[in-house]
Amino acid sequence: DIPSLAEAYAGLFPIGAAIEPAHTSGLRAELLKKHVNMIVAENAMKPASLQPAEGRFNWEPADRIVEFAKANGMELRFHTLVWHNQVGDWFFLDPEGKPMVDETDPEKREANKKLLLERLERHVRTVVERYKDDIRSWDVVNEVVEPGDPDGMRASPWYRIAGIDYIETAFRAAREAGGPDIKLYINDYGTDSPAKRDRIYELVKELLDKGVPIDGVGHQTHISIHGPSVSQIIESMKKFSELGLDNLVTELDMSLYAWNDRRDYGSDIPEDILRKQADRYRELFEAFRENKDIIGGVVFWGIADDHTWLNNFPVQNRTDAPLLFDRQLHAKPAFWAVIDSAGQE
Ligand code: G3I
Repeated sequence: DIPSLAEAYAGLFPIGAAIEPAHTSGLRAELLKKHVNMIVAENAMKPASLQPAEGRFNWEPADRIVEFAKANGMELRFHTLVWHNQVGDWFFLDPEGKPMVDETDPEKREANKKLLLERLERHVRTVVERYKDDIRSWDVVNEVVEPGDPDGMRASPWYRIAGIDYIETAFRAAREAGGPDIKLYINDYGTDSPAKRDRIYELVKELLDKGVPIDGVGHQTHISIHGPSVSQIIESMKKFSELGLDNLVTELDMSLYAWNDRRDYGSDIPEDILRKQADRYRELFEAFRENKDIIGGVVFWGIADDHTWLNNFPVQNRTDAPLLFDRQLHAKPAFWAVIDSAGQE
């Protein structure tokens, strides 16, 4: 019988995992119950899933995840109120069905922006009101900063139609609907890179100065065995904590490959690669433990290697193994490294 991750980290921070509704029963559910005390929906709470068409809400898959977490005494996170992916196109169509981004007439652009922000506000209020008593920690906006785009803001339909007002609207509506007890996060990947980190910092500071309610930064932390360095990850968190913000590791996994590596280890992963992954997980969790005062939780983006967004991505037909349990749901060397790093038996 192996130790429990969540128990090993009790008193330090919660350990979480992203799941699909189908994972709430069977062997994987047992694995989750043993090892995690925080749950997030991998897809079921994204805008396209919750409101596929205007005014038509689809709660059933999301509710199943909420019920699973509650039945097992696990905390929940919400992912995500706003994103440029997995969001219904209907948000961005004008009343005539034309894409708002194509509009050139200034008056119509103004009317479109107003309509988009109304739709956004309605989505946020409806969702937050439904789950506010069950979910404390909320990703309000996801991946809104992109240093390569104009102004360093991702040139999504949201931004092209409404500028940064959509971010402000989302946070304010979430706070109004959810009250002071829910925690509101801005979530992004690559937050360790100086360009991304600094642009997020600047944005958050600007919004906080305007009184926009932001409680923390979610660091997705999709990393690989090659990088980035652990010290760089921690450094960025320290920077945000100086603004009085909480840091959460929201989507942790560690690919075996460099991003565009064409190799595929398949089910035959070399020992030294698994060891390298374990060593890096060890170093990472030791740093998390040392910095527990600025880290509110660590959530994995999945639990076992048979179900991860990195299988077939970004390289087709390449299998990856970024998590702590293998395809048969057995503990990998990385699991034992993370247990060791908790430093309490
Ligand atoms: O639900 C449909 C199903 O009906 C259809 O048959 C099937 C065919 O491909 O697709 C299913 O939808 C897939 C969905 O996951 C649910 O499994 C989408 O194609 C697929 O694109 C989608 O991928 C998700 C991805 O976000 C979308 O961008 C991944 O599961 C999910 O892990 C990933 O999560 C994101 C975070 O939200 C944000 N940060 C990055 C992270 C990894 O990309």
